[in-house]
Amino acid sequence: MNILIIGSGGREHTFAWKMKQSPLCDQLFMAPGNAGTSELATNLPVGVEDFEGIKKNVLEHNIKLVIVGPEAPLVAGIREFFENDPKLKDVYLIGPGKVGAQLEGSKDFSKAFMLRHQIPTAKAKTFTKDTLEQASCYIDEIPSPIVLKADGLAAGKGVLICNDRGEAKNALEEMLVHEKFGEASQKVLIEEYLDGTELSVFVLTDGKDYLILPEAKDYKRIGEKDTGLNTGGMGAVSPVRIADKDFMQMVEDRVVKRTITGLQQDNVPFQGFLFIGLMKVKGEPYVIEYNVRMGDPETQVVIPRIENDLVDLFVATAEGKLGEKSIKVLPRAATTVVMVAGGYPEEYKKGDPISGLPETAPEDTLVFHAGTKENNGQVVTNGGRVLAITGLGDSLKEALERSYVQVEKINWKDKYFRRDIGQDVIL
Ligand code: AMP
Ligand code: GLY
Repeated sequence: MNILIIGSGGREHTFAWKMKQSPLCDQLFMAPGNAGTSELATNLPVGVEDFEGIKKNVLEHNIKLVIVGPEAPLVAGIREFFENDPKLKDVYLIGPGKVGAQLEGSKDFSKAFMLRHQIPTAKAKTFTKDTLEQASCYIDEIPSPIVLKADGLAAGKGVLICNDRGEAKNALEEMLVHEKFGEASQKVLIEEYLDGTELSVFVLTDGKDYLILPEAKDYKRIGEKDTGLNTGGMGAVSPVRIADKDFMQMVEDRVVKRTITGLQQDNVPFQGFLFIGLMKVKGEPYVIEYNVRMGDPETQVVIPRIENDLVDLFVATAEGKLGEKSIKVLPRAATTVVMVAGGYPEEYKKGDPISGLPETAPEDTLVFHAGTKENNGQVVTNGGRVLAITGLGDSLKEALERSYVQVEKINWKDKYFRRDIGQDVIL
């Protein structure tokens, strides 16, 4: 079948790399893709929220399966757009509808969902501009640090951890009164701080059955030792040792099963990925957040560890037959190191020529493109996160060595990467 992947990051390049290996995959298209995906697929000059442009290409290229990489088109209703169009309604689409996407699109919605379905999470209350005074009283009642979360999508920047009450009150006013994150912070959750170790668990579901994919840990801050500004993600590793058998059983029983039955009880169909951000506190899982898509750069370590034919799993997801499948995880470790443009996540330059890209990467090394494009036959930088270099190995240490050997060989002016990815978990 002909397949379209929507998105242009390292996550989407990883999907393309994996799906291209499937005997079920005929022609592969990307909207819009990057310089890396152009070697595996046909890049279409169509934006991720250009639903009419996507429709035109789906029909023209006889596409039968669409994978939605990022959250924005899901929150904007791409599923409904397909379901309501007589010419598109039979196309398989991986990703939930608008209501399901609210698990990521609204932290207030997802918190209420977790409370309603007894899914363990931090205590929280939601406030608006009109309830600023009550919010201030609430801050006085709870211990610090205090977590403030903008309700809506804020490009991964909407969460503030405030060390004391004064800081929390100032930040709250910035968010509610001065709309620091625009519309996204018209509602703010004030949340209890969870002191523990973070990891993410990924689930593919057809709404009734599910497969739990390998877990991962990502590195969000720009600076080494987790300092500086938040980014989209500077690296990731899988497996994560703290996700032992007992812990994963608790995650399945208390979080995954309750989430899937919760969606069913609330009459929310859900075909796609659930990305569950967890904190392990005193041995037990608490949900920090849901995303309704795969993570980036977590995909770059999770997908290479899956032995299954991914297209086959997607077809089963769309047909409601995931119960017939089981997941086969390779007994290998995977790490990815993200190479970014100097200045990122603040201002950075685009258009710098990249040298040292391998024609064929060495065994157990994968070069995934993110912000790259081709300019007169030369690959140049085209975003903040430029490349993600995945290494595979029998241990995280071996995988990391492979990632870093390749990272050192690729250059452009002002490239930057963290040298400490995975260091805290290999010791
Ligand atoms: P989010 O955007 O929801 O992923 O939050 C960003 C980051 O803030 C998370 O990855 C955690 O490191 C941290 N965080 C969010 N909620 C809490 C919480 N309740 N307690 C401690 N840390 C949190
Ligand atoms: N790496 C975090 C995310 O994809 O949201």
